[in-house]
Amino acid sequence: MAAAGQTFAYLVVLSSLQAFEATEMPHNQVNGIVRGTVYLNPKLPVPEEYKQIIWWFDVSLKILTKKRDQPVSYLSGFFHNKLCYHENHTLEIVQLQKQDSGIFRIEVENNQSKTKSELIQLKVYEPVPKPSVKVTIRANEDGWCNVTLECTVNATQVAYHWYKNEKDFVGKNSSTLDDQLKSESHASYKCVVSNPISEEAGLVYYRSPCTWDEKNSAVPLSLARKTADSILAFGFLLLVHNWV
Ligand SMILES: *[C@@H]1O[C@H](CO)[C@@H](O)[C@H](O)[C@H]1NC(C)=O
Ligand SMILES: *[C@@H]1O[C@H](CO)[C@@H](O)[C@H](O)[C@H]1NC(C)=O
Ligand SMILES: *[C@@H]1O[C@H](CO)[C@@H](O)[C@H](O)[C@H]1NC(C)=O
Ligand SMILES: *[C@@H]1O[C@H](CO)[C@@H](O)[C@H](O)[C@H]1NC(C)=O
Ligand SMILES: *[C@@H]1O[C@H](CO)[C@@H](O)[C@H](O)[C@H]1NC(C)=O
Repeated sequence: MAAAGQTFAYLVVLSSLQAFEATEMPHNQVNGIVRGTVYLNPKLPVPEEYKQIIWWFDVSLKILTKKRDQPVSYLSGFFHNKLCYHENHTLEIVQLQKQDSGIFRIEVENNQSKTKSELIQLKVYEPVPKPSVKVTIRANEDGWCNVTLECTVNATQVAYHWYKNEKDFVGKNSSTLDDQLKSESHASYKCVVSNPISEEAGLVYYRSPCTWDEKNSAVPLSLARKTADSILAFGFLLLVHNWV
């Protein structure tokens, strides 16, 4: 009998959860940056004579309550000192962390004890770090320079976009790019890595014949190295000269 009661209770909870999911999809998404601040602005009308307002996080965690003509009471240790409820019913969250991502729900109870609620989804992202571009020369013959460029960045959930000579490389939105050069004397390639709150670019420069450089230098990598080597050799000669 007790078991049956439990099963029944479980089914009730399950079906009310399903109803909750089916009827209330978050139609409002807010993106935040780690250590930044967001404002959750509910769209639902709050009657002036409301009885109380409750904010929930991820369905079951009650984070604050506000009764009319009473001060706000903050309930959850999880958001300790990070919430600020404004008179206009906006909820401010400061010092964002990735784990603050989730679904927030405002529940408004009017003076006839009828409730209305609204869901707001919060997504917190790390700013994208600077990517670097790795060049792999697939072929360097018959005047062709065939390469694979790979944009690497220490981040997940990012989108890639490529530009050649500042022009959109249409459709190239993966982390690698294949290209073939023959007649061009020089070219620039840019990889832009982005998430909804930030973006960073990595650059690489081409010079004929098949020379690649990460810096915007007119001196090709190989030539720069030779010059450095000869300066070293010259310094060594000077040293030897001073000894003698
Ligand atoms: C409510 O007030 C806060 C603080 O003054 C402000 O940042 C926020 O934008 C306001 N919200 C709306 C919907 O006007
Ligand atoms: C309930 O609120 C409405 C307006 O929102 C107001 O007209 C009415 O007088 C209120 N009733 C009570 C009992 O406070
Ligand atoms: C380099 O690319 C060109 C143009 O697509 C192609 O004709 C050539 O065969 C490629 N060379 C090699 C060695 O893959
Ligand atoms: C990548 O990023 C994570 C978190 O942002 C950091 O802990 C880790 O040290 C980084 N790894 C490298 C190789 O930079
Ligand atoms: C990448 O580009 C292709 C072709 O333009 C497009 O169909 C696809 O949706 C894009 N993917 C992303 C993640 O932007």
